[in-house]
Amino acid sequence: MSPYFTVLPTLPIQRLGGEKPCNSQFFDSPKHRSYKFGRDALWVGLETLGLREGDEILVPASLCEVVLIAFIKLGVSIQYYGLDATLAFDPNEIEGRVGGTTRAVYVNHYLGRPAPLAAIRRICDDKGLILIEDCAHACGGRIGEVNLGSFGDISIFSYRKFLPIPDGGGLLVNDPSLSMPEPLPKSSMLRTFRGVLKLWVMCLARHGLIPLVWWKSVRNRIDDYLRVDDSIDSVAWESPLGMSDFSRRLLLRVDLAAIVEKRRENYRFWMEKLKDFAGTEPLFPDLTIGQVPFSFPVLVDNRDAIVRAVARRGVYLEPTLAAPYRKISTLVNGDEDFSEIEAISARMLSLPVHQSLTFDNLKWVWKIFREAIEATILNQKR
Ligand SMILES: Cc1ncc(COP(=O)(O)O)c(C=O)c1O
Repeated sequence: MSPYFTVLPTLPIQRLGGEKPCNSQFFDSPKHRSYKFGRDALWVGLETLGLREGDEILVPASLCEVVLIAFIKLGVSIQYYGLDATLAFDPNEIEGRVGGTTRAVYVNHYLGRPAPLAAIRRICDDKGLILIEDCAHACGGRIGEVNLGSFGDISIFSYRKFLPIPDGGGLLVNDPSLSMPEPLPKSSMLRTFRGVLKLWVMCLARHGLIPLVWWKSVRNRIDDYLRVDDSIDSVAWESPLGMSDFSRRLLLRVDLAAIVEKRRENYRFWMEKLKDFAGTEPLFPDLTIGQVPFSFPVLVDNRDAIVRAVARRGVYLEPTLAAPYRKISTLVNGDEDFSEIEAISARMLSLPVHQSLTFDNLKWVWKIFREAIEATILNQKR
């Protein structure tokens, strides 16, 4: 049976906790609160900040819908700012967009690559704006000696993207003038059980022990991944909840430094393989200090055909970078041109680097990916 690989980790849960004391950065800090998902942390964070209807927030023109939904639900106006071909923002461009109702700036460390924040922090301080730092893709990263998550007035995390736990998000309230939110009711036992079951299924599938590849193709799941929809369904929003005790216990035992190192090692595997490989263009060809890779993002032509071809052989390479959503009721610059981001979003896919992957797993994924790229190039020449 074909093994099944995704960008999310599927390590057996019993092997997650180490002997070492927890080094998961902020998790046991008094400034931290834990939630079911990153989106729940954001919602509570926005309530803590008191953002409300009529306020404006500046956000990058590529952001996942679950983040945007929170602003829409609150009636906060959204203004996009641009990103360059490496997903970096220009602080001067952001500053130029600040208007009378602007109250906050949202920054994201895309796919674990630390975004330099000193300049934008200064601008926010000068203009009395709130800085919200999104570390959903960057759990355990640093800028110099400073942990990511330390720069925003509030910062959010999505632990479940880095660790094989059924739920897990975090909010850090760095601004001492803000009061800490009260803890929320926890995610239910049933939901936790379903999440654990799913992780086990993924783990068995990674070892080729259940036919998940076949099941996904029957359900047409890959088409769901690739579907482009530029409107946001705000009905999909759920009330926020706290993190389950199950995930919390595991998180407190995690050796985050070891996980970061393993991810970096796997990232170097892809750097080496794709250095001069025709038909592929790594988005971040180097590995910076403090980068904690979520995945290895690479640009390819005929992205959807490649994603479909590798999915048939058990490798799910998620696109992972949203094009700008245009149909949003509170968006103020929906007509602005962000063609650079649209172009990256249409060509990008994410190769897995997570800590559960063995060297043999990586070689297997590489073989399948290489064959798909070579077949596409051959087809183009015909
Ligand atoms: C940049 C970013 N921030 C926040 C989130 C929300 O995290 P979660 O899925 O844990 O709610 C996501 C999720 O997809 C994301 O991509």
